[in-house]
Amino acid sequence: MFQKEGLVFRNENSWAILASHIEKAKYSNVFVIVDENSEIHCLPRFYDKIGLNQEWKVLQVPSGEKYKNIDSCIRLWKQLSDKGADQNSLIINLGGGMITDLGGFVASTFKRGLAFVNIPTTLLAMVDASIGGKNGIDFGLAKNQIGTINLPQMVVVENSFLETLPKRQLVSGMAEMLKHSLIHNSDSWDKIYALEPLNKPGFEELIWESIAIKNEIVAQDPLETNLRKTLNYGHTLGHAIESHCMDNSEREPLLHGEAIAIGIILATYISNRLLDFPEKKLTEVSMKILSIFPKQNFNQNEIENIVNLLVFDKKNRNGKVLFVLMQDIGKPKTDCVVSNALIYSAFDFYKKL
Ligand SMILES: NC(=O)c1ccc[n+]([C@@H]2O[C@H](COP(=O)([O-])OP(=O)(O)OC[C@H]3O[C@@H](n4cnc5c(N)ncnc54)[C@H](O)[C@@H]3O)[C@@H](O)[C@H]2O)c1
Ligand SMILES: [Zn+2]
Repeated sequence: MFQKEGLVFRNENSWAILASHIEKAKYSNVFVIVDENSEIHCLPRFYDKIGLNQEWKVLQVPSGEKYKNIDSCIRLWKQLSDKGADQNSLIINLGGGMITDLGGFVASTFKRGLAFVNIPTTLLAMVDASIGGKNGIDFGLAKNQIGTINLPQMVVVENSFLETLPKRQLVSGMAEMLKHSLIHNSDSWDKIYALEPLNKPGFEELIWESIAIKNEIVAQDPLETNLRKTLNYGHTLGHAIESHCMDNSEREPLLHGEAIAIGIILATYISNRLLDFPEKKLTEVSMKILSIFPKQNFNQNEIENIVNLLVFDKKNRNGKVLFVLMQDIGKPKTDCVVSNALIYSAFDFYKKL
């Protein structure tokens, strides 16, 4: 049996569904975009699972967020062009969020848009990046500054890809699962709160629940006019922290989820101060996150730099930095204006945890 949430399929039969889609659509070419790691660890399993006798044209991109840029797009567009991609070609993005974002963007823009399929191979891509049709690349100082909203034909979730994923990457994906449960409801949060990180039988079910939460939100508001903004919880400061660490040669770059995890603590503190988010739950959220994600130290200069980076946030309107906050678990509020002073005290709170 397979299970389906919107365009997302999981379990064994989802491969047969993808295979039959490829056969029926009679694509002129099928390209598979991979990065160095998904090529080694996931491509053989992909061939094995899909079991189709088909010519796969594999396009490889170096791995890492720093390659989610326009240079990689140009290289991919050129390879597509050289290898005869026409409008009836399919692109399969086999990799983490970097590949699904980049590959989705390349597919959406080449010859005004080719069909594409996402096959996420990291936890973060399964529960978040591969779902909902947001594609894009980083540009200048801002992440995901250039992009499209365009849905894939389907998303295939295959848990066994996680077997080769480094633990740090697996943990990073948990930040988005925590975020989904927090904005959804208390039941969902309690389940994830009770789960020891990873390797538990309930984990695959929680992955699927997390996918369902994201799917439900994007189905209701695909263009992010209101409800979808709630998925940005923890991301306003999280993205600024991520950019800061990426561009600062003295710092080890943080993974997306690691930065978001800090962003969630900061946003929850600000929620407590501005919207009376319950104190007890603030402690619960902070402790849960610190039990999974090692604490980071930021000095005053760094914090100032992070605050300055907030102006690049895509969700800003009319020069105002807008946050998603929460009145309580499951009760997010969008478009909240937050003073810099409160942001500094949020960092102070984090420091003292
Ligand atoms: N579009 C969206 O809605 C959305 C949402 C959340 C995040 N994102 C984006 O997702 C990106 C982060 O995604 P990510 O965390 O998956 O990073 P990633 O794609 O860079 O993957 C992380 C690392 O794991 C390797 N890898 C991938 N699958 C593997 C496997 N099965 N076994 C071994 N190694 C494997 C990759 O090569 C890479 O080194 C960011 O660019 C972020 O902006 C997008
Ligand atoms: Zn995210």
